[in-house]
Amino acid sequence: MRINKFLAEQGIASRRRADEMIAAGRVKINGIEATLGASVEDGDEVLLDDVPVLATEKKEEYYIMNKPKGVICTVSDDRGRKTVMDLLPENAGRVFPVGRLDYETEGLLILTNDGDLAFRLTHPTSEIPKMYLVRIAGTLTEKDLNPIRSGVELDGVMTKKCKAHIVETNKAYTKVHITITEGRNRQVRRMFEAIGKTVEFLKRISIGKLKIGGMDRGAVRSLTDEEIAYLKGI
Ligand code: URA
Repeated sequence: MRINKFLAEQGIASRRRADEMIAAGRVKINGIEATLGASVEDGDEVLLDDVPVLATEKKEEYYIMNKPKGVICTVSDDRGRKTVMDLLPENAGRVFPVGRLDYETEGLLILTNDGDLAFRLTHPTSEIPKMYLVRIAGTLTEKDLNPIRSGVELDGVMTKKCKAHIVETNKAYTKVHITITEGRNRQVRRMFEAIGKTVEFLKRISIGKLKIGGMDRGAVRSLTDEEIAYLKGI
């Protein structure tokens, strides 16, 4: 990490003020006067005016994002496409997305640097209900959803029982709320393909009790202490 960022994260000064301190020769890394743009690694000793700056514990960060479609759900993309990281506030630490939403899917995404929480939320045994809004072309009846509710075969393995109901239907399209407790690859799209329907629009609207309602497309905010406590408890 750049020395100015390190000093800023330790609450010593803004990055610009830190640069001034460095330029004034007040900062040393492992006993050697730091230069502007120098890097610090774990275990380096940083001194300001010959007094050690003690690295504080890594702070855990938790964000909720309304991911827009056309944004890839990875930390970096070798094809240069926009990633969810590009939507984070500038001062965000090294967080990563918890689970995946397809490039074309939008909605609720959690990002954190809390590896334990991410592991538990995405582990198959946690069976956290995730609700999606699906839109397919044309009409559909409640009966048509029965195979989806009881389980369809994907890659030779049946999907678990799930809840699904129609929220709107007309000649042009049908909207469905579906709640699944698994997180298989492109699961919702493939479940509808299994009944001969193509998903035209897909949005995750909740994970457990955490809802995306009210957040604009592309908006990000920190989770509240209550929301973090809730997620840690599920
Ligand atoms: N199911 C899908 O098909 N895509 C997603 O992004 C999430 C669930």
